Amino acid sequence: MEKFYARVNGFNQNKDLVSVIVETVPKKVFGIRIVREQIELLKVGYIYFMETESFERKPGELSLRLLNFEEIFGKEPDTAIEEALKAFFPECEGLIERMNEINKFVDKINNVILKTITKKLLKRYSPTFFYYPAASRMHHNYLGGLARHTLGMLKMSESLKVLYSEINNDILISGIVLHDIMKIKEYKTPLEPEFTKEGHLLGHIPLGVAEITKEALRNGFEDSEEVLLLQHMMISHHGQLAFGSSRKPAFIEAFILHMLDNMNSKLTAITDALKKTSDFTFSENVAAAEKTSFYKHGIK
Ligand SMILES: [Fe+2]
Ligand SMILES: [Fe+2]
Repeated sequence: MEKFYARVNGFNQNKDLVSVIVETVPKKVFGIRIVREQIELLKVGYIYFMETESFERKPGELSLRLLNFEEIFGKEPDTAIEEALKAFFPECEGLIERMNEINKFVDKINNVILKTITKKLLKRYSPTFFYYPAASRMHHNYLGGLARHTLGMLKMSESLKVLYSEINNDILISGIVLHDIMKIKEYKTPLEPEFTKEGHLLGHIPLGVAEITKEALRNGFEDSEEVLLLQHMMISHHGQLAFGSSRKPAFIEAFILHMLDNMNSKLTAITDALKKTSDFTFSENVAAAEKTSFYKHGIK
């Protein structure tokens, strides 16, 4: 039996025989015999862990047949997965490191209620959380973008805590880690960032408040101050009604969460645009930054 990661490039069909055309790392493109019903289950452009066996197609001519397959996004990231993903999606570089770093921040939370809710929700939605993009177009709109955005905000928050002793570390870490977690229910799949039904009708903010409430109820924390603060951070993190928040941030960590969210998403969209821009020219219009075109100076 042969096992490997491969991307589905398409299908070959004739009267009785169906093959899936796959691409592996290092690059090799070939067909694997499947049964007709499997066409519905394999998605073009997606990467799967495949188990195959050889069979004799004609005397002396070997072919492969698909025995089992598992979509990569359902599996816990490991080095083999990161390598396979990176070959097709270079932005997946550092996927495992980001996962470990985010988990380390969560481990730093001391407050039992905040730690329990944050840890359990992150675990409930892992590994999916680490594969998702953060948005369909505005910022971090690529595989792993959600974790990149979350970790970026966690790192940016560290300098603020040095300057302002009033900030509660536990509340801020918990709010940052959870603020966009329900993007995984807002968008269909990591590779299809189109709205789901829940995404259209509710969006990640109300979905996130519901998740916090459910997790609080499961653990008997529903009447705590901590849960109320987390719910407020969730509903206020977009800052104003026009952007989906029904309340403005009304305590310091909620205000910082909103500012960090704003700054990290815009700065990343700007720097991503500048990567595609030559020196001494202007970038494309950056939607996340009021459609401004940014000048790339040549000063090194
Ligand atoms: Fe958000
Ligand atoms: Fe965000």
